[in-house]
Amino acid sequence: MFRTNPARSDMRSYSPLLLCLAAALSSASVIFSPPMWTKLILTQQWPSTFCAMEHCHSNISYWTIHGLWPDRGMDCNSSWHFNSSQIEDLLPDMEKSWPDLIKPSSTGFWKYEWHKHGTCAARAASLNSEHKYFSKALELYHKVDLNSVLTKFDITPSEKYYEFSHIEGVMEKVYGVKPKIQCVHQSKNAAFQTLGQIEICFDPDFNPLDCEKQLTTDTVSKRNWDTLDRASGLSVCDVDTPVYYPPLP
Ligand SMILES: *[C@@H]1O[C@H](CO)[C@@H](O)[C@H](O)[C@H]1NC(C)=O
Ligand SMILES: *[C@@H]1O[C@H](CO)[C@@H](O)[C@H](O)[C@H]1NC(C)=O
Ligand SMILES: *[C@@H]1O[C@H](CO)[C@@H](O)[C@H](O)[C@H]1NC(C)=O
Repeated sequence: MFRTNPARSDMRSYSPLLLCLAAALSSASVIFSPPMWTKLILTQQWPSTFCAMEHCHSNISYWTIHGLWPDRGMDCNSSWHFNSSQIEDLLPDMEKSWPDLIKPSSTGFWKYEWHKHGTCAARAASLNSEHKYFSKALELYHKVDLNSVLTKFDITPSEKYYEFSHIEGVMEKVYGVKPKIQCVHQSKNAAFQTLGQIEICFDPDFNPLDCEKQLTTDTVSKRNWDTLDRASGLSVCDVDTPVYYPPLP
């Protein structure tokens, strides 16, 4: 993905003057930083499905935030450390809406998301502080209000199965854009798939945008089912397989 700097691969044939020029250009960070993001992905997870994969225990029966991810870049600024004092006023909402399902009283999940995705989102002036980033994620989460939308259309956790097109159709109708809906697939020809994660995308002005079908960096394909790690094991739901939306165990 990242092309080697041609100045580096073939330096021997360059004159000293060109070498100086190449060195000057190389030090300009704009050449090496990835292009600015063009899409933000608000990812929400269903705690029962997440905890079935990760062997945690959760009594939460609403969709919670997994992250707010720009489509380009990861770990963009390792010297920008997470500091929970910067978001002190947001903490009550963070604990409710963006809980760490594995370690409920820790700030580790927010720290991880900040370093991996927040420092890249922060390249936009609208998100260039910890407070701006986390408050925007909470704002979008509440605005989208996925929990109410699904309930309103009678899509509730239950022992019966849903048609994938019904779930997708409701969301498209309400939001006016295509979400990306991810499931856990028990095996290749399983009778059902389990609803796990929903992505809703936004443009840089925070207007809803179609999500593409392609897998994001936080997901893995089905063949990795046997080697699950945190937040993996999900892939785009199959159109034709019934969807299980699991209630609390
Ligand atoms: C979930 O569990 C927590 C801690 O175990 C408890 O404080 C909370 O009241 C429970 N919530 C519900 C809805 O049962
Ligand atoms: C990285 O973060 C540090 C600490 O917040 C900041 O001073 C610096 O300007 C940032 N660098 C970039 C390229 O954004
Ligand atoms: C964290 O943020 C608070 C509030 O802005 C500040 O007083 C403190 O120095 C920061 N801590 C670190 C380690 O940067």
